[in-house]
Amino acid sequence: MQNKTIKLSKISDELINSVCPLRLGATQPVPGAGNPKTEILLIGEAPGEQEDLLGQPFVGAAGKLLDKLLASINLKREAVFITNIEKFRPPKNRDPLPEEIAACFPFLERQIKIIQPKLIITLGRHALKKMFEWDKDKIIDKSISISEFHGKLIRGKKGCYFPCYHPAAGLYQPSTKIELEKDFQKIPKILNKL
Ligand code: URA
Repeated sequence: MQNKTIKLSKISDELINSVCPLRLGATQPVPGAGNPKTEILLIGEAPGEQEDLLGQPFVGAAGKLLDKLLASINLKREAVFITNIEKFRPPKNRDPLPEEIAACFPFLERQIKIIQPKLIITLGRHALKKMFEWDKDKIIDKSISISEFHGKLIRGKKGCYFPCYHPAAGLYQPSTKIELEKDFQKIPKILNKL
């Protein structure tokens, strides 16, 4: 029986030959990183410039804020698993297109099945929209507003979700940063409840 680490590294190897249209323009895939035995999986949008160069998720400015948010609840990034719905950097950090997300989603689905997290924290509206689509079997309206769902525990058929704003939004908007800080403070209690 392969352990979780081996299974996850197989996914990383396979991503190199992914059919995702973004693969050819990217330096390398950014599969995700962290503790395969964690209870917490964080899902962001897509790698940016630093992530593309280093092959690691959330290592730029947004990642520094994410590290602080995790530290505020006594967690290090090594204790959780961090990944994205899109595994390759979109040109000029534009939003990932539906066909790009569709090409990468099977890899994320396998990561979720291997890790079996108690709680999936979605960061930003792209991750929220995709996870709702996946779990609730319905296409979520494009206008889905993260302000409606953030900071609330959502129990789905396939898992439990805790939507948060994207840390990059918190860098530009002080009020969003405050909401992120408040939402992260709720996570330990929520985990105890699950
Ligand atoms: N933004 C994301 O959504 N993911 C990263 O890995 C970095 C920035």
